[in-house]
Amino acid sequence: MKKVLIATVKPFAPAAVEGIREVLDKAGYETVLLEKYESPEEWKKAAADVDAMIIRSDKANAGIIEAAQNLKIIVRAGAGYDNVDLDACNKKGVVAMNTPGQNSNAVAELAFGMMIYHIRKHFDGTSGRELRGKKLGIHAYGNVGRFVAEISKGFGMELYAYDPFVDNKEIEKEGIKPLASEQELYKTCDFISLHIPSNEKTKKSIGYDLLSLMPKNGALVNTARKEVVDEDGLLKLMAEREDFSYLSDVAPDCREEIESKYPGRFVFTAKKMGAQTAEANINAGIAAATQIVNYLEKGDTTFQVNK
Ligand code: 3PG
Repeated sequence: MKKVLIATVKPFAPAAVEGIREVLDKAGYETVLLEKYESPEEWKKAAADVDAMIIRSDKANAGIIEAAQNLKIIVRAGAGYDNVDLDACNKKGVVAMNTPGQNSNAVAELAFGMMIYHIRKHFDGTSGRELRGKKLGIHAYGNVGRFVAEISKGFGMELYAYDPFVDNKEIEKEGIKPLASEQELYKTCDFISLHIPSNEKTKKSIGYDLLSLMPKNGALVNTARKEVVDEDGLLKLMAEREDFSYLSDVAPDCREEIESKYPGRFVFTAKKMGAQTAEANINAGIAAATQIVNYLEKGDTTFQVNK
């Protein structure tokens, strides 16, 4: 009997675990659930004899991949797979996949939740501002960026996007103005919603030079990865411009400094919350389980990220 480990330090909603189990039961597989584990050792022990793993932002480093001696496939139930050591997977012949698009709406909705919470002054009873008529810049027009665009139309925002990997015509046909550079996007927009992946090229790529171009009362909304923001540059700008704000899921390493020095100019979530909805968990969890069964039974490698 094939064994599939769900290893999530931040658990899925119970309905998602139920959905995953149903898919795996139907295939005749055993489901092993390891939630809120406290050390990599605990994870390694649970992974020792499994054929497949489903994870979230859990750090699947070389040690974990090697400890899972029978591992054939690991699926990151979500979009970003910067937490999976693909070299280690390649060395062991393990297929790595993600589940693109499955949790994107949840992330997009959180971006607006953070924007509203911020401009309505954390609902403290004082006078705030509105989103209508403001310029929103979508930095990377992928799955989340598309949901952000759709939702922003309901708020009556003016839409701009920058994505060198997407044809401008595709962006224009959605009523969004494509801009030719990051610089133009940041210079133009009151809010920037960030959706770039974290990799060697993008880490610390959003820094002082770019952020300082933003207009008065500008805010960066980061539902991507904290690593893509250069925190030294961010702190320099926060010190220089008392109108600039940073809204981020998840909180930056310099959280304490921002919280103590710049009240009212940040929104940070307690934990990475973007995909933390029952719907997103169900979509991504069931997709992950289905992809595992399709790979192990039929060799289907759709969504493989380490080809
Ligand atoms: C993703 O890359 O899909 C999101 O960042 C979600 O991460 P999570 O599963 O840890 O909430």
